[in-house]
Amino acid sequence: AADLAGRHFLKELDFTPEEFRGLIGLAARLKEAKRAGTERDDQRLTGRNIALIFEKSSTRTRCSFEVAAADQGAHTTYLDPSGSHLGKKESVKDTARVLGRMYDGIQYRGSGQEIVEELAAHAGVPVYNGLTDQWHPTQMLADALTMTEHAPQGRGLGDLSYAYLGDARSNMGNSYLVTGALLGMDVRIVAPRSLWPEESVTARARALAESTGARITLTEEVEEGVRGADFLTTDVWVSMGEPPQVWDERIALLRPYAVTMDVLRATGNPAVRFLHCLPAFHDLGTAVAREIHERHGLTSLEVTDEVFESAHSVVFDEAENRMHTIKAVLVATLG
Ligand code: CP
Ligand code: NVA
Repeated sequence: AADLAGRHFLKELDFTPEEFRGLIGLAARLKEAKRAGTERDDQRLTGRNIALIFEKSSTRTRCSFEVAAADQGAHTTYLDPSGSHLGKKESVKDTARVLGRMYDGIQYRGSGQEIVEELAAHAGVPVYNGLTDQWHPTQMLADALTMTEHAPQGRGLGDLSYAYLGDARSNMGNSYLVTGALLGMDVRIVAPRSLWPEESVTARARALAESTGARITLTEEVEEGVRGADFLTTDVWVSMGEPPQVWDERIALLRPYAVTMDVLRATGNPAVRFLHCLPAFHDLGTAVAREIHERHGLTSLEVTDEVFESAHSVVFDEAENRMHTIKAVLVATLG
């Protein structure tokens, strides 16, 4: 299962439901092997070299690639936003051809999806999308694995529902919509209409849903959107790369979509779980949060601290699963 030798990992839409599920299954097995202490006896990436290009900040994605590679015997090189000539003195195409001569795989995090696609077109080795403005596909593997782990007894992904609240005209909004469609899930996008995914993305999701049996709902109504949901999820209201001026408008638009205890109750599901890709704005632990607090008097944005710290929250399982799922991508494509 999950033999994707030589394949890129650029967006969810490039995979069949079977391939995507195969990666989730492989991640679960790799997680088990790490826990059992048997991974070192069966390393599948020894001698491999992987370049990690980051044009935006990262905690989870970078560390996941580094730890996953090391666990499996591979070596990584981290290139930070100023750590190479890419985008300044050297084109994407030339960088791809140079790195492709030295590395067995390349991870890219940045803004345009077209950049990671261009890298993939010229590198000659697998290229992995570690987040663009359009998609966050490695995050979706982690979320799907986390949902499987926290699913009510006997229910697989195809029997589960989730509602994503907040800024849905974003990488996370797009990825949640399309991934739920791919996996045959009941997916609800709950956001003001102006922040719904672009029509082209919704159309792709609806077309997929016809073959997978997924249910797709886009709604502005929180109560309707969350009713009966197994999982609630959200993301920051302003993404990396967006200008700080959008904060005020986003806050005004999205305040009714914050995940609070009332929203959890509105699901009618006492076992509802909360997911968040992180980083999250749930307390005043960051400089940006304190600045927003001064201007708007808010102590949290997309999720309250009460929800974030509650027993409903599985966000740190989800964060850990970034590593196991990224390992699955590396093993499946390079192993
Ligand atoms: N969720 C996520 O991608 O986190 P990082 O930005 O820390 O990689
Ligand atoms: N939408 C967020 C996701 C961070 C992991 C961003 O792009 O900043």
